[in-house]
Amino acid sequence: MQKALLKDSNREKTVKMRRSIIFIAAAAVLASACNADLCGFGDIIPAPQEVTVSEGDFLHKPWTKIAYVTDEAIPAEGYVLEVTPKSVRITSSDEAGRYYARQTLAQATGIDETQLDRKTWKVQCCKITDSPRFAYRGLLMDVSRHFRSKEFVFKHLDAMAAVKLNRMHFHLTDEAGWRIQIDAFPRLTEIGAYRTAKFRMDPWEYCEPTDTSAYGGFYTKDDIREIVAYAQARHITIVPEIEMPGHSNEVLAAYPELKCTGDVESGDLCPGKEATFEFIEKVLDEVIELFPSEYIHIGGDEAVKRGWKACDDCKARMEAEGLGSMEELQGYLTRRVEEYVNSKGRHVIGWDEILEGGLGKEATVMSWRGVEGGQAAIEAGHKAIMTPGTYCYIDATQDFPNKEPAAFGNYLPINRVYSYDPAEGISDTSLLLGVQANLWSEMIISEEHAEYMYWPRSLALAEVAWTNPERKDLQDFRRRAVLRGKKMTELGYTVFDLEGEAGERAESLEPQNHLAVGARVVRAPECNYTERYSAGGDNALTDGLCGGWAYTDGKWQGYLCDVDFTIDLGEVKDISNITLLSMQNRVHGVYLPASVEFFMSANGLDYEFLGSQVPDTDPDVWGARICQFGLSSSEPSPVRYIMIRASRCEKGGFLFFDEVIVK
Ligand code: ACM
Ligand code: ZN
Repeated sequence: MQKALLKDSNREKTVKMRRSIIFIAAAAVLASACNADLCGFGDIIPAPQEVTVSEGDFLHKPWTKIAYVTDEAIPAEGYVLEVTPKSVRITSSDEAGRYYARQTLAQATGIDETQLDRKTWKVQCCKITDSPRFAYRGLLMDVSRHFRSKEFVFKHLDAMAAVKLNRMHFHLTDEAGWRIQIDAFPRLTEIGAYRTAKFRMDPWEYCEPTDTSAYGGFYTKDDIREIVAYAQARHITIVPEIEMPGHSNEVLAAYPELKCTGDVESGDLCPGKEATFEFIEKVLDEVIELFPSEYIHIGGDEAVKRGWKACDDCKARMEAEGLGSMEELQGYLTRRVEEYVNSKGRHVIGWDEILEGGLGKEATVMSWRGVEGGQAAIEAGHKAIMTPGTYCYIDATQDFPNKEPAAFGNYLPINRVYSYDPAEGISDTSLLLGVQANLWSEMIISEEHAEYMYWPRSLALAEVAWTNPERKDLQDFRRRAVLRGKKMTELGYTVFDLEGEAGERAESLEPQNHLAVGARVVRAPECNYTERYSAGGDNALTDGLCGGWAYTDGKWQGYLCDVDFTIDLGEVKDISNITLLSMQNRVHGVYLPASVEFFMSANGLDYEFLGSQVPDTDPDVWGARICQFGLSSSEPSPVRYIMIRASRCEKGGFLFFDEVIVK
């Protein structure tokens, strides 16, 4: 038994080794043959599962035909692409496989897929055997927070198709705007599709499209039909999302009768009222008619449920249905809507909160608050799609935040997206449909900014979703992503410059050595750090460990009070520099101190005031900023105790510090 296992694992290693030798050989041959930026099968994103190149080229002329063969044995969406000096042959079991082989050719030649038959091009002889790891390879587009033009959606679909992404999760409704024409409820778009403020984070009200400050828009049914057809031609399924019962303020603005009774303000639909179900069913009827997708996303996230507690209709529903909690009340809504969707021959997807109140067997869970929701769903026999925030929420900044546009999320560089393995910790991968990256757009007004956030990180997602883990290689991927980014820029996309990436904060990558490392930090009990952001405890500010670009990385210590602490260096040392690092991230209620005062003492009794500093960033600035507070002197002073006082700004919120560096 032991020996057999060993033999098997050796064989697997040999196969893997052979694959990588073939691939390295391929890359070498291609590198020597290429003189343009994008020209070979070694540059494809997502990396194909198996590539073998051989001597010679094939020259395609507009009158040459690519041969297509159907072979039932090829996995869904997979293909075998064989190029000899005399022919190009594509074998697949379905149209999607044929299309993806053409996309591989398109990347290798730099010619758009739609132009391959009409243009002259040359490629190296090869055999590529390729098929996707996951059937669901998605990107979410949030058009509620900011409406996006149809043309932008088309352009986005082109970019997705080129890297074999095949699901666009269309977040059509949310509190910031309803974006789809529904004939049965015209006020959804007459009132719910427009608001008075452009920036989502500014106060706003819903308004009519004729209001002079109206900002918004919606897709007519014809627009939707066009988008669906455009996507279908590129083997992309549009998965529509209609949010419920939470994130529904715009619905309630248009149809206040769907609010709970009682005087608690909330953006949740009332699950106690039959009118709510009539509304949902009629909306879904029209949505289902427009979208051929097997899956209809019914939201389910972040219902606040506050209004339900105080609502007579909700109370009556709970009593009649024997529901013991607010979660069960949401579960009642989820199951009832699921049944309705199933009766129309479709299935539902919901955010992982739908697990909390019980859901029907056929429901698929989209795991966003971590991977646990997806794992639990699969353990309970449901299908799951993984989109955990820490790897897949590309609304986070992708580089040093001071140089990046304001972002809702903390820090999610491309390497982290690439490192994700959706199957990790999953008990039954046959229930794992796939993976998705989400671009929530609260702070992303322009379409250029949206593209900048999508690309190149979505290239990493594409490879995570398509390529088997043993074929992944971060450094090679980054090389290919730079090339693809350049190609996309040439095609008119706005793409983050991966070559110019600053990367994670250098000081956070290895322990820092300075005069206060290991020193004791003493603070009054009334100005202690929070338990959640302890960064390791009392001496975190002198542990030599600096934080990175995200205050949530476990190395930043968070306070909900003014801060006053003393560092005891243990003995008198000559010091000439004290630096305290702090972070602002207004979206999350994290602010820089309004001022920081520094004192020093040799004996712990007599303190000398050294000076105070104010931040270089206004508290009204959105997005994350790292700010350094510090003092230095050309003459070292003998010091044992350093006292630092940091006061919060008028907005209150959190203060965060990672280290006091003393030199
Ligand atoms: C979510 O990010 N609220 C699904
Ligand atoms: Zn209610």
